[in-house]
Amino acid sequence: MDVVDVIRAKRDGRRLSDEQIEYFIRSYTDGSVADYQAAALLMAIVWRGMEADELVKWTAEMVASGDRMDLSSVSMPTVDKHSTGGVGDKVSLPLAPIVAACGAADPMLSGRGLGHTGGTLDKLEAIPGFRVDLAPDEMLRVLNQVGAVICAAGPGLAPADGKLYALRDVTGTVESIPLIASSIMSKKIAERTDALVLDVKVGSGAFLPDIALARELAETMVKLGEAHGIRTSALLTNMDTPLGRAAGNGLEVTESVETLSGRGPEDLMEVILALATEMLELAGIDADPRSAIDDGSALEKWKEMIRAQDGDPNAALPEAAERSEVVAESSGVLTKLDARAVGIAAWRLGAGRARKEDPVSPSAGVVCLKKPGDEVSEGEPLLELHADEPGRFEPAIAALDGAVEIGREATEPQPMVIERIRA
Ligand code: URA
Repeated sequence: MDVVDVIRAKRDGRRLSDEQIEYFIRSYTDGSVADYQAAALLMAIVWRGMEADELVKWTAEMVASGDRMDLSSVSMPTVDKHSTGGVGDKVSLPLAPIVAACGAADPMLSGRGLGHTGGTLDKLEAIPGFRVDLAPDEMLRVLNQVGAVICAAGPGLAPADGKLYALRDVTGTVESIPLIASSIMSKKIAERTDALVLDVKVGSGAFLPDIALARELAETMVKLGEAHGIRTSALLTNMDTPLGRAAGNGLEVTESVETLSGRGPEDLMEVILALATEMLELAGIDADPRSAIDDGSALEKWKEMIRAQDGDPNAALPEAAERSEVVAESSGVLTKLDARAVGIAAWRLGAGRARKEDPVSPSAGVVCLKKPGDEVSEGEPLLELHADEPGRFEPAIAALDGAVEIGREATEPQPMVIERIRA
């Protein structure tokens, strides 16, 4: 087979045959197809798209490029959640112990953050001693013992995606529904849980701000999951405003523990409970996630999980050396707090990284003291900025220009869960 024929076929808008897909993914993963040829095919896919069954095969080949997890030793129903990422999106941290407390097992393989949305592993690494790099047998041991484990996805899972995603990043080919859906789902299908719930964020702080595109991505991913034998559904959730009050690694851990203790912010609780309910339903478990918070069992699971991964759940988290505030310029009601701007500010304060190899600060970030709908008085603090060095405040404050609006009356509160998408 000739890779140029594969590129020409897609360039001219034809469906790739199963053999062409098999050949391309295998040859690109083993290095016999060059980056420039793969880039040409990716650009043709951006423009021409993929048919539904073509995408199922493409995704199956990405999964087959690496290992698949073997969860057969886990006695509980297995279920996972994936989020397309948002500002203050610490949902994974309380969610895994909540569903574990309800009788499911959640092997949450996560990533690090890049850009203005944080990564789950970066957040957990703010906890002294916590280890995210677990060998597969260790991951299974924690999962069986606790029912929840949050660790790094090893390089063995869908390696074709690792190569393709790095190439897409530098060739302007990230923005394509079939390429995004196959990238996310290849890693989730390789996990082989019984069920999967996707949290597709919509709004200014989301990867896809536009609702129509977010819906199309959600529908495509749900179909891919189901075609690969995983009960899959998606919730479209609001990401116009940061989720909860904290954006930044250690700050989000603190908020997660408060949430597990029953003192979480309303918007965060709403999203967590909606996702937990969906996960338990797909896993076939009849339990109320709210009661796992009320009776303390979810918090207990959190502590068990942290200890099982060598962290100290009672240790103090690192605190930033420097603080600054953004205050209200007038009195009234906060009508807008832009998620993307807060994400960029947290990133510039040190909570995020610009390149994969950069370190992140465990203590930097933004605390939203006020959220839309809250009354504010002129001069009152709206945002608290945390950083390790004072030089970080000026660029962070510049990112917040226009992020806050104060009006006379509160606008209609937006529902956090916008839509549910099932097969
Ligand atoms: N996240 C992924 O894992 N892949 C994409 O293509 C986009 C976001």
